[in-house]
Amino acid sequence: MSNSPLSPRLADALTAVSQDVNAELDRLMPVSEGAESRVQDAMRYASLDGGKRLRPFLVMQSASLFNVAETAAIRVACAIEMIHCYSLVHDDLPCMDDDDLRRGRPTCHKKYDEATALLAGDSLLTKAFEVLANPATHSDPQVRCDLVAELAHASGAQGMVGGQMIDLQAQNLDLDLAGITRLQQLKTGRLFSFSCEAGAVMGKAHGELRLALRNYAHDLGLAFQIADDILDVEGDAAEVGKRLQKDADAGKATFVSLLGLERARSQADMLAEQACRHLDPFGDKADLMRDVARFVVQRRS
Ligand code: IPE
Ligand code: IPE
Ligand code: MG
Ligand code: MG
Ligand code: MG
Repeated sequence: MSNSPLSPRLADALTAVSQDVNAELDRLMPVSEGAESRVQDAMRYASLDGGKRLRPFLVMQSASLFNVAETAAIRVACAIEMIHCYSLVHDDLPCMDDDDLRRGRPTCHKKYDEATALLAGDSLLTKAFEVLANPATHSDPQVRCDLVAELAHASGAQGMVGGQMIDLQAQNLDLDLAGITRLQQLKTGRLFSFSCEAGAVMGKAHGELRLALRNYAHDLGLAFQIADDILDVEGDAAEVGKRLQKDADAGKATFVSLLGLERARSQADMLAEQACRHLDPFGDKADLMRDVARFVVQRRS
């Protein structure tokens, strides 16, 4: 790990959250006896043991800023990861990006079949809301309702799904920088925003602190996506664990195609630093979130 972009304290903290998320997902998604077990297996395949777990990590960190119990926050962390994994399962299907490799393993429809992958995505999506609505997530029903409404909004046609719809048409839209920024804000930014604000929702914090997290998420999401575009061009497929050069092959405009590699890189760095400054109101309690911002622009996977 000598020249790893992960600071040692972030590496340790990410590992700990990954382990907790895995254990909780395992508990939340048992396999039953009947023939329906196939879809349950596929849900587990698509969500256990993989990925960087950045969104769950952000939920846990934002929750800790407001002293929210970890046993409650981990459920929200699992809910957002379920949505993220569902989005990846569907994104990889032949009708969308038609990819064979995800997180270094065969994609869900390659491992199972298309219909099973479709159903696994559907049931990860619905399971996320089942988890949020459960009283174990928060004692206050209004907070549970707020979490459900915010995650639905972030995931749906005005959020991630909307971004995916624009993305599918991107070849024909001739998007400029503002257009790409909006696409990415919907496609990836909204789920990051939910993750970063979830702690404030659970802690019933409004006003300035919530706004600070929203602003942090905005810059973090864009920095993350610029880095994703850079990795698509110059990443190592084995390290990244998915097919690369997809954007160029598909003729899609990206931050890199519009800005060039150098400017894209400096823009990402600038956004990461700006993201960190939004965390000033939290002092050193937010240091790991600052580390995340620096990590997302330096990551190699
Ligand atoms: C990949 O997200 C999909 C995009 C939104 C670009 P991540 O890079 O967070 O994927 P995992 O969860 O670590 O596999
Ligand atoms: C997928 O975007 C993002 C979502 C599933 C919302 P991409 O298609 O760019 O992600 P990768 O490159 O397959 O991970
Ligand atoms: Mg896609
Ligand atoms: Mg894809
Ligand atoms: Mg991509």
